[in-house]
Amino acid sequence: MFREKIHEASEALTFDDVLLIPQRSEVEPRDVDVTSKLTRNIEIKVPIVSSPMDTVTEDEMAIAMARFGAIGVIHRNLTVEEQVSMVKRVKREESFIIRDVYTVHPHTPVSEALQIMDVYGITGLPVIDDDGKLVGIITIRDLRFYRGGSVEVRELMSKDVVTAPENISVEEAKIIMHENRIEKLPVVDSSGKLIGLITFKDLMKREKYPNASRDSEGRLMVGAAVGPYDIERALALERAGADFLVVDTAHAHNVNVMNSIKKMRSKIDVDIVAGNIATAEAAEDIISLDIDALRVGIGPGSICTTRIVAGIGIPQLTAIAEVADVAEEHNIPVIADGGIRYSGDIVKAIAAGAHTVMLGSLLAGTEESPGKELIIGGRKFKLYRGMGSLGAIQKGISDRYGKIGATKFVPEGVEGAVPYKGKVEEVLYNLVGGLRSGMGYVGAKNIEELRRKGRFIKITSVGLKESHPHDITIIAESPNYPTAL
Ligand code: XMP
Repeated sequence: MFREKIHEASEALTFDDVLLIPQRSEVEPRDVDVTSKLTRNIEIKVPIVSSPMDTVTEDEMAIAMARFGAIGVIHRNLTVEEQVSMVKRVKREESFIIRDVYTVHPHTPVSEALQIMDVYGITGLPVIDDDGKLVGIITIRDLRFYRGGSVEVRELMSKDVVTAPENISVEEAKIIMHENRIEKLPVVDSSGKLIGLITFKDLMKREKYPNASRDSEGRLMVGAAVGPYDIERALALERAGADFLVVDTAHAHNVNVMNSIKKMRSKIDVDIVAGNIATAEAAEDIISLDIDALRVGIGPGSICTTRIVAGIGIPQLTAIAEVADVAEEHNIPVIADGGIRYSGDIVKAIAAGAHTVMLGSLLAGTEESPGKELIIGGRKFKLYRGMGSLGAIQKGISDRYGKIGATKFVPEGVEGAVPYKGKVEEVLYNLVGGLRSGMGYVGAKNIEELRRKGRFIKITSVGLKESHPHDITIIAESPNYPTAL
């Protein structure tokens, strides 16, 4: 029986074990569409997700990811209040209709209105009466000739205000603003009460990021991580406007975790991503909980020691394919999480069945990550650590990895540093460039075609050596091939 166990052990592959076979192609990399499904109900234009780790994703990273068309998941090594305020910050950034509008009353002194504009850096204020009804607007233009003194807002405000109804679209708002040459468009309900404000500046920002991941109100989209048993946190994050939640566990195929996910599902309306898993059986069981996407990866991460500490895991390409086959039958998207070091790994992960990839180390060195900056040997680095590392556990997170006793933990991750890489936008640009190139070689016009058409060939360690630059001393850094690790 024991001998059989060893003989039965099947082979499993990961990124470096294979390459994709070049195929006859009519597809130019610049023409491919990399839009993909993140969850059952969310689509993103760039299939990359930043990992919920305390050295990778907070509000800054989530905003930058969403602006690029990708998406971020805010980590949970924070108090509920801190995490909620980060989600809110992302949702407020560039919202198409501002909901918390600064206003004044007709009898407010003009000097006070000017002060509000000055303090908050805004150029106009809607004027409302005691019932909240819009009665005018006062902008910098109206105040051009104000020379001080006790003048009230009602004396200088414009009373003929162009307004918009709540269900106005971005395009309609733009037309109204152009036609009336106005920069502020108050939004009112059917009784004339002010319920929001659209500004030309925000509409312009939208044009700067045409691919951004936005919700139906034009706000940037963001995800947030929750512990498997933290339903209170989940509810608070949903109320704060999180577009999806990631139930963040090292082993979702655990009966207690699954029972809790089921409970969470019954209370949460936004999409739920569940994981991590690495087998077809886990995929079946977790999908039956009515979740909206699966997160795959046990131990492939650059900072993970789960495979070494616990002896557990499945090489990542095999794990992705095992889960994707089951997920396909139920129309559930798959997120490949961990182990991605180069853009080529993204192409392989998608060809193996993933819809999107989740990145930690590749993004941790960017300006937008919350990791601490370090100087080592005169070069700039950023701290990057596993969420199961001693440092992360000491900060607070303690139910993802290594919970053995109530007070003592066995870490399943390490702490390290990654080279500083500048803006995340640059990193994403290079990663997407590699993905587009790979799709051109395969002849895939879109992500679905890459998932169907991509074919692998197994390589040897000698083949791998041939794949990397060899027999040369590299003298110039390439943005998509880090050499100074
Ligand atoms: P990369 O390779 O992109 O991986 O840096 C990021 C993913 O690694 C997982 N993660 C961990 N896994 N111990 C683990 O075994 C840890 O301490 C740990 N921290 C993060 C996680 O899935 C992340 O997205």
